[in-house]
Amino acid sequence: MSEQTLSNLMHEDRRFEPPADLAADANVKEEAYARADSDREAFWAEAAERLDWGKKWDQVLDWSNPPFAKWFVGGTLNASVNCVDRHVEAGNGDKVAIHWVGEPDDDTRDITYAQLKDEVSRAANALTELGVQKGDRVAIYMPMIPEVVVAMLACARLGAPHTVVFGGFSADALASRITDCEAHVVITSDGGYRRGAASALKPAVDEAVAKTGDLVRHVLVVRRTGQDVDWHGREEGGRDVWWHDAVDGASAEHEPEMHDSEHPLYVMYTSGTTGKPKGILHTTGGYLTGTSYTHWAVFDLKDDDVYWCTADVGWVTGHSYMAYGPLANGATQVMYEGTPEKGRWWQIVQDYKVTILYTAPTAIRTFMKQGREIPDGYDMSSLRLLGSVGEPINPEAYVWYREVIGGDRCPVVDTWWQTETGQIMISPLPGVTAGKPGSAMKALPGISADVVDDDAKSVGNGNGGYLVLKEPWPAMLRTLWGDDQRFKDTYWSRWPGLYFAGDGAKLDEDGDIWLLGRVDDVMNVSGHRLSTTEIESALVSHPKVAEAAVVGAADETTGQAVCAFVILRDSAGDGGEDIVEELRKHVAKEIGAIAKPRQIMVVPELPKTRSGKIMRRLLKDVAEHREVGDVTTLADSTVMDLIKTREGSSSSED
Ligand code: PRX
Repeated sequence: MSEQTLSNLMHEDRRFEPPADLAADANVKEEAYARADSDREAFWAEAAERLDWGKKWDQVLDWSNPPFAKWFVGGTLNASVNCVDRHVEAGNGDKVAIHWVGEPDDDTRDITYAQLKDEVSRAANALTELGVQKGDRVAIYMPMIPEVVVAMLACARLGAPHTVVFGGFSADALASRITDCEAHVVITSDGGYRRGAASALKPAVDEAVAKTGDLVRHVLVVRRTGQDVDWHGREEGGRDVWWHDAVDGASAEHEPEMHDSEHPLYVMYTSGTTGKPKGILHTTGGYLTGTSYTHWAVFDLKDDDVYWCTADVGWVTGHSYMAYGPLANGATQVMYEGTPEKGRWWQIVQDYKVTILYTAPTAIRTFMKQGREIPDGYDMSSLRLLGSVGEPINPEAYVWYREVIGGDRCPVVDTWWQTETGQIMISPLPGVTAGKPGSAMKALPGISADVVDDDAKSVGNGNGGYLVLKEPWPAMLRTLWGDDQRFKDTYWSRWPGLYFAGDGAKLDEDGDIWLLGRVDDVMNVSGHRLSTTEIESALVSHPKVAEAAVVGAADETTGQAVCAFVILRDSAGDGGEDIVEELRKHVAKEIGAIAKPRQIMVVPELPKTRSGKIMRRLLKDVAEHREVGDVTTLADSTVMDLIKTREGSSSSED
């Protein structure tokens, strides 16, 4: 695509001004930008004051050893106290923290802050009983049930960093994460509900634990579905412990310790451009400051809001904007066990009078396909603000979201951030910024972002380049678990002093930011990050495969879809009739069902450069042509253009 077409696509005349009443009463006003610019540290210190500290910090930021940041140095706090105890102490114990909606229709629970505090305390006591101590890592592999939040907060209370692994990941993926962070305890459930049926989780844990030698000492199991499980209880020298046995009878009194501001809170694994997932480390004080402030500012959170973030807790959005941010703010929220289904979401909005909805463009596009008659059948007048996250939102989806779901009155905040950033970085402020369909607009107060060229020079308005972050921010990752060097190499080595996010971006004529997607070998499928290399490695580990190349091809609903090209070994002949299905299953087993290629083409050759590098971009042309023809989404087409402008260079990141 030519540069001219790119600018036309990036041109957007529609503006949606903030509603007058929201603007008048907004939590954050225009002045915040200038205030943060004039003294960034004072700005973040004020945000940190919103939390309860055991001991106040001596220094806001220590950036003397970049890229290793320390925030609120010398301060102590407890994340779980900030998320539960302090709301109870402030007299809000009866406020509902979580309206939980199970997948079977009539399965619901309302949990108040007082109940949550008791349950978290019981779980903390139970974990202590199982030998969990401050600093120990705990793996969590659970469906969207309240116990997952309780488990996370109980770990945080003890200062035992959790690593939540998405329930859709395979036993192999779980095993590699347990091993990488050396977790001695795994918390899981017998199963969960997926599309109406019970599906098992415990067998995957058993398989993962078996692969990790003697590492795992206890597996704490919530009974959710009641399905039969293989059980090896402690009485027979096994590792399994029922949650209801260990937690229900434990004391609801638990004296929390105040942890250092930089004490590790959790590790979240995410795909990089190489095969091995990266363990993103978040710590306590800065992370909680960044997530709670942005949740309050970007969603303009008020006391009586009913907030609903539809993300699964297995991803960072579920950590920052379902668990920590909203709970630190004492919000009432909805937690839903199921996936997007016709009408069910809107029924929930109607029943619980949801006021703020935060979801991903892929869900919006799915609903668009189903037709507006479905949401039109519900009363969604309670909604006042809509959020989007995970991938670029194409203007059609933005406008549909605004009009059909938001009744043309709710501002849409398109929020850009990453597992690594921990907190929202680029987004409109709903009471300040006019919405422009497709643009995430500008860096939040206290955040410094830019779009630069290959020489780290600012590209200026009307031009495209790479998104960078110029100053440290409170919720930034501190390092990669056990790998400081990879942390430096991955994010900080391309241009000294700048954090390279891996995203292409463009500044429009007003200086507003448009995200164009990844410029490295990371795909974004339904708002989830997948690595091309990781899937290629999985394919090549199959005995019939000699070589594999994977690309993310534009997909109308999921943003991108995994397309694989494989060369079979001579000994495999033509691979047999079911070779494609066999390989898809193999990828699901190695990584998880989310990584299953949509399409696998068996080919005799792969296009390579003279130096032997596979030219994935040619494959991408092929994949997009065969599957979706000319129907490319705006964001994906521009990514293609960005890639084309770099044609000839055979470099790759990471
Ligand atoms: O490419 C960007 C895209 O998602 C990547 C981060 O993925 P992950 O760490 O899994 O976190 C997803 C949820 C925060 C980014 O590098 N991305 C995320 N939000 C947006 C986005 N791309 C465009 N617009 C967004 N609002």
